[in-house]
Amino acid sequence: MKDKPRYIAFEGIDGVGKTTQAKLFQFFLESINIKSLLTKEPGGTPAGTKIKQILLEDKIYKETKLLLFLADRSQHIREVVKPNIEKGFVVVSDRSLYSTIAYQGFGEGIDVEFLYKLSNFTNDSILPQLVFLIDMQPETCIMRCRKRGKEKNESISFLRRVREGYLKLSKEKNFFVLNGQKDIATLHEDIVKIWNEL
Ligand code: TMP
Repeated sequence: MKDKPRYIAFEGIDGVGKTTQAKLFQFFLESINIKSLLTKEPGGTPAGTKIKQILLEDKIYKETKLLLFLADRSQHIREVVKPNIEKGFVVVSDRSLYSTIAYQGFGEGIDVEFLYKLSNFTNDSILPQLVFLIDMQPETCIMRCRKRGKEKNESISFLRRVREGYLKLSKEKNFFVLNGQKDIATLHEDIVKIWNEL
């Protein structure tokens, strides 16, 4: 365990199954007696839960949205991620700064370099050491979200840009890319295999 990552993020567009996989992975860590914690962005702290409510308002401009996600993250890093890493926990997070790069940067067209500069401030130098990107066609994701009654107001072209952004990031930042079409158990096995081989 000595050199294993302590801050792990699950990324992907809505509906890929990232939340399920993050949960299963954290259960797995517990099952092998690794102290771990499952958390999320946005909404991983009491302040973040309130910020998430504001994000659900009808008319939120993309600049406002960006600052709300960053406020959520700033609180989350300082209140949850950093202290738990310091206590020896492995922190498993459903989303991270890379969601901002993919959604606000590649999706909404906000300058990516500017977003990284802002992230230096919000993240306090705490960056995920291991990222699992679950990848899937946006069309399938939209259908899945619809079935779960969790459909979002995002256009297919927006989700395509976000997905392409994630794939570009995966090459630059060495994310592990997983095929979201696989069934839940097989995907989980793939993730555990990657962890075991690290
Ligand atoms: P969720 O809580 O259902 O995962 O929804 C979070 C939504 O917010 C999801 O559509 C992705 C989006 N998001 C961003 O646009 N930027 C961010 O930085 C984060 C963390 C999430």
